[in-house]
Amino acid sequence: MDATAINLHRKRKRPTLAILTYADEKRIFRGNQKNFIDLIETGEQWGVRVYVMTTSDFKLNGTHAIGYKYHAPSRTWKKRLLPLPDVVYNRIPYRKFELLPEVQQVIQTCIRHGQIHFFNPSFFNKWALFEWLNKSKESRPFIPATRRLHSGDDLEKLFRSHPFLYLKPIRGKAGKGIMKVSRLVGKAPYNGYELSIQDKTKSHISRYPNVNKLWSHLQEIIGSKEYIIQQGITLSTYKQRPFDLRVLVQKNQKGAWSVAGIGARLAGKLSITTHVPRGGSIDDPSKLLTASFGQDGSKKMIAKAKKTAILLARQIEKASGQTLGEMSMDVGVDTDGELWFFEANSKPMKFDEPPIRKKSLENLIRYSLHLSKSAAVRTAASPHTSSSNKSGQDSIANQSITGR
Ligand SMILES: Nc1ncnc2c1ncn2[C@@H]1O[C@H](COP(=O)(O)OP(=O)(O)O)[C@@H](O)[C@H]1O
Ligand SMILES: [Mg+2]
Repeated sequence: MDATAINLHRKRKRPTLAILTYADEKRIFRGNQKNFIDLIETGEQWGVRVYVMTTSDFKLNGTHAIGYKYHAPSRTWKKRLLPLPDVVYNRIPYRKFELLPEVQQVIQTCIRHGQIHFFNPSFFNKWALFEWLNKSKESRPFIPATRRLHSGDDLEKLFRSHPFLYLKPIRGKAGKGIMKVSRLVGKAPYNGYELSIQDKTKSHISRYPNVNKLWSHLQEIIGSKEYIIQQGITLSTYKQRPFDLRVLVQKNQKGAWSVAGIGARLAGKLSITTHVPRGGSIDDPSKLLTASFGQDGSKKMIAKAKKTAILLARQIEKASGQTLGEMSMDVGVDTDGELWFFEANSKPMKFDEPPIRKKSLENLIRYSLHLSKSAAVRTAASPHTSSSNKSGQDSIANQSITGR
């Protein structure tokens, strides 16, 4: 082989990962550019070519695709014709983009493409997650009792077994639209219901003498949005601030689920959630857990959280029928030290803890390497393209899921 032939051979053989995102009139493409650059750099260290691919430039015919490479000296992105990816990683940043018909078409093409692996095909919705996890007796004990919210009756029923409830939009994120309702058990006027609504960094509180009054106000707030109601968990606290765990679960170089790291988020003083933009703060999980459960207890709980997160990720992947490569999970720890699943996110936010950040980039690249070595043998008849999953997410009956 002469030098050119060797080069061509090498070029063709280099595993290639495309990050799929959305482009609009505002920017060359949407999503966290720093995240993409970090992934490109990590790819370079591992011999994986990484580029960004937008749904509007999308073209996967023949041997090449249109993509963007980052040019560090000029800090700009260069549009290029690049080798077809072996793997496509979906990072379309908002649900509203992902639901556009032209974007759905791109996603379907990726799923059905015979030569590429495509992972994390869509955002999760909170109700589907609970349906999926309720299907297995291994994962069921970790989910709080959950049902869909259609009437005041639904609230009343769940209040029979739980003193306070969380109300959450099925397609919400970052605390948006979250409410908490508690049943007051004192004598009038200290009975009835107390509603806390999460605002930017604090929550607003109002009271109602009965479920009917509460429900009519809730209807105004909720409008046509779909909501779930959920058994409230009394979270373990640190200096009187509740906290929960954020677990990053990713596939590794063998294609097996592993935990890249666990972070903790402490709720803001006036907040009903633990999100950092809502006054919450990042902290060290072992410090927080040790304060409540001792050093030994803390160690055991971290080990249990890892094991549980893997079990839950496996069940989510299995029941969803999707190919998944990563997810972040919000896991609560109650005052007895029991773990509770709140939600999983298929487009995890960047973890700011440096070791988790580093590991997360490496896992993505090594998982892509793993995928690129195995043949993509998908056809239109694979579970990815079956309609059962989609309809399963959107036409689920109002059935109750029992917690512990
Ligand atoms: N059932 C619950 N009991 C107690 N706290 C909860 C419950 N559900 C959610 N939370 C709190 O609210 C936060 C946000 O809930 P989550 O389901 O993750 O919604 P979002 O999509 O807005 O992040 C959680 O991280 C947790 O702190
Ligand atoms: Mg969350």
